[in-house]
Amino acid sequence: MLDGKKSLFSGMQATGTITLGNYLGALKNWVELDSEEYQCFYSVVDLHSITVRQDPAELRKRARNLLMLYIAAGLDPEKNCIYYQSHVSAHTELAWILNCFTYMGELNRMTQFKDKSAKHADNINAGLFTYPCLMAADILLYQADVVPVGIDQKQHLELTRDIAERFNNIYGEVFTVPEVYLGKVGTKVMSLQEPTKKMSKSDENANAHILLLDEPDVIMRKFKKAVTDSDGEIAYREDKPGIKNLIDIYCGVTNSTVEQALKEFEGLGYGVLKERVGEAVVAELKPIQDKFYDLSKNKDYVDKVIKENAEKAGYYANKTLRKVQKKVGFPERVR
Ligand code: TYM
Repeated sequence: MLDGKKSLFSGMQATGTITLGNYLGALKNWVELDSEEYQCFYSVVDLHSITVRQDPAELRKRARNLLMLYIAAGLDPEKNCIYYQSHVSAHTELAWILNCFTYMGELNRMTQFKDKSAKHADNINAGLFTYPCLMAADILLYQADVVPVGIDQKQHLELTRDIAERFNNIYGEVFTVPEVYLGKVGTKVMSLQEPTKKMSKSDENANAHILLLDEPDVIMRKFKKAVTDSDGEIAYREDKPGIKNLIDIYCGVTNSTVEQALKEFEGLGYGVLKERVGEAVVAELKPIQDKFYDLSKNKDYVDKVIKENAEKAGYYANKTLRKVQKKVGFPERVR
């Protein structure tokens, strides 16, 4: 709780233009969650991004684009605190403290660490390993009650809860223990080329993912090339991962139920199905893209959001940090 309201935190890495998976699994839910009910914090988690090597100019550009996409997708920066993680130093300070309350064995079990170290075998750095402690710091600094994410982040959330409970057991009720919030559909959007694999912006095959800023004709082309199966039946089943994924995407962007979608697609062939899904995605993303390009022409406005929201985030984050520093026994500041 913060100022008598429930608190909500989430974030995304700025390692590339985000995908339809990021959008349906997270961003779209953020927009639907009510900023009247929750005190909302949405961070561009640039500190997390450097666990993998980044080109500095590219990272800066991507981080800004991501922040603008948050706004373009419908998050009002007057009502939601939208900011860069690196602008609030309390994140790294709390992360250090939480490192000291997290066990190597726990971090070793994280599937994201295993996946990323397999992928970046030449750069298995300590930041990659302690990544979940920084993520726990993000969430706990804002006393978040809920954390809306896609299913792949659930394990990190469980670890965050364990760390919070461990800390509270030693020092009293310092942290709110957060709950994970998963949307109804789209919690795991799959690759369009290998539908048993998660859609990921780092996929080398550009046809495997839809990027939020892909042009309408590119989106249509990628859906046309989507891998399905050869039996021609439109059904929502685990043994038909390509078709199931297309239906999930359709339901995600149109807010329909699987039953409604199946009814609409009854008797159609795969070609038409792909076209319908592609059109629905274009209809959803086009207004976001237009708003994004408008915003990118409005430097002063975006700069103002960046400055004001970093101050707001810093205010709440430092409140928690000071409390934690006192609890663990750091000397009081002399004023
Ligand atoms: P990241 O940047 O990989 O992904 C951002 C959000 O998108 C969701 N997501 C998906 N959802 C459905 N289908 C997919 N194919 C898909 N791919 C990604 C993710 O679940 C996530 O919600 N560690 C986090 C960022 C982070 C964070 C936090 C999140 C840092 N601190 C604190 C919440 C709270 C990450 O790498 O997400």
